[in-house]
Amino acid sequence: MKEKRITTTAVSWLFACVLISAGPCRAEGAPAHAVASAHPLATAAGVEILQEGGNAFDAAVAVSAALGVVEPFSSGFGGGGFWLVHRAADGKQVMIDGRETAPALAHERMYRDAQDNVIRDASLKGPLAAGIPGMPAGLVHLAEEYGRLPLRQSLAPAIRYAEQGFKVTSRYHRLSAYVADTLRQYPAAAGIFLQDGKPPRIGHLVRQEALAKTIEAIAEKGLDGFYRGPIAERMVREARKHGGIWSLQDLDAYRVVEREPVVFSYRDTRIVSAPPPSSGGIVMAQALSILEQFDLNDMSNVQRKHHIIEAMRRAFRDRSVFLGDPDFVNVPTDRLLDESYLEGLALTIDAANATPSDILGNGPTLLQVGTQTTHFSVLDKEGNRAAGTLSVNTLFGACFVAEGTGVLFNNEMDDFSAKRNTPNAYGLIGDEANAIAPGKRPLSSMTPTFLETPDRVGIVGTPGGSRIISMVMLAALDFADGGLPQSWVSLRRFHHQYQPDQVQFELHGLTKFERQRLAGMGHELREISRRYGNMQAILWDKTEDRVYSASDPRGEGQAVVVE
Ligand code: GLY
Repeated sequence: MKEKRITTTAVSWLFACVLISAGPCRAEGAPAHAVASAHPLATAAGVEILQEGGNAFDAAVAVSAALGVVEPFSSGFGGGGFWLVHRAADGKQVMIDGRETAPALAHERMYRDAQDNVIRDASLKGPLAAGIPGMPAGLVHLAEEYGRLPLRQSLAPAIRYAEQGFKVTSRYHRLSAYVADTLRQYPAAAGIFLQDGKPPRIGHLVRQEALAKTIEAIAEKGLDGFYRGPIAERMVREARKHGGIWSLQDLDAYRVVEREPVVFSYRDTRIVSAPPPSSGGIVMAQALSILEQFDLNDMSNVQRKHHIIEAMRRAFRDRSVFLGDPDFVNVPTDRLLDESYLEGLALTIDAANATPSDILGNGPTLLQVGTQTTHFSVLDKEGNRAAGTLSVNTLFGACFVAEGTGVLFNNEMDDFSAKRNTPNAYGLIGDEANAIAPGKRPLSSMTPTFLETPDRVGIVGTPGGSRIISMVMLAALDFADGGLPQSWVSLRRFHHQYQPDQVQFELHGLTKFERQRLAGMGHELREISRRYGNMQAILWDKTEDRVYSASDPRGEGQAVVVE
């Protein structure tokens, strides 16, 4: 478990009562503030804004914007995200959908050649891979509708980090090395994110002056600063010069959507999670409702894992067939979450044997993995909360920067199904529901989630492609068993997603005994060569009057509780 104590520099102005990573901090009356994010500078930005009188939503703006500056491989102003919010004053719970949209010139066959074969790189590299960004609109919406401070104030830390630079960490160095070849194809990107064309050395200062100006324009003019005017014109011109299809109309037309979260219960926990165009809430609701038919706590460890795997298999099967942008396709949510249907699925689980995925039906396969994407959780003393999962899709997105703007484009178009039954970068194959269409949002796995009982409130999420859903689900099971955030973020992770028909597990994610027993039940096992995920979590325990927070030990993030 990661445990750090604030002592110096970036957040030295914090008071001594600040506890880091999972240390409980007793709050008198109202709960403490808490921020957990994937980067210490982003966490510091959130704390700074809370201490200036901002609420959790102002802090969410500050953390999101800062992550977009200091973790360019994960998210950014050229990307998008989902912000799940809970407003304490009236209990309003909503997901702000700032997912990217396909440009008007996009079409179902745009990533296929004359022979109808998918051109693999076309949806991954360069501006043709980029959807219209939703992050700037999401931040403006959060600030205007839910925040207390002016947008300029909440964006100030990000502007500062972009202007003054941030230091390259070992994680940045390692991740930039994976995509250095692609970044070099786009000099404006290489000039910012590499050092002399190579992955920058640890400690190197990454300055983003043009991005600072872009964020300043958003701070001054709101949507008009990004979606209209000189920055929009520059982005469109640069995109077109390099084979992209964005237009000024696409940018002008971009809108965030407020969506009703998926709400369901598992035992005595109320779970509030991401609705379509995320698949997270529905898949988790299905899997946990299936598991509710069993007494997991009365099972051996191996039996428990077998049942969790079988529940995931069944829920992910439905994901691959039925889920897409609800503004374009009819997502049969009621049918997918119907009690009798899920009881029926539970009955198909054989306690002694793995169910081959093929006998569950002819859904397309999917596999999505990755270290891209990021998550943060925030709680303020009034009880407002935000869970934000943000992305540019794969590492450094499309690796393309519109020169003069500092905006790194996403490659979120790859989350669409480029062709039925043909895998994307991660083996993801979708159905018609997730086919490309102008203005449509690609199906996502991002799963910002609240976990609630009358006494406890959890705020949780993580990056990790389709494994996001299983990670959040394992955390939800642990919450229901009374676990604390440091336990949720540290859990050993395993995953099944229907196809490929295998139990994926992180390095050392299953013991030798568990592997032997699960293999004996017919499960094909695949150990991933590294540990995965980067969960950021907060728990407010009302009976103890305590706030806990934790940052995933696999990452370099920071979780703080401020009394
Ligand atoms: N691009 C990752 C996701 O939305 O699931």
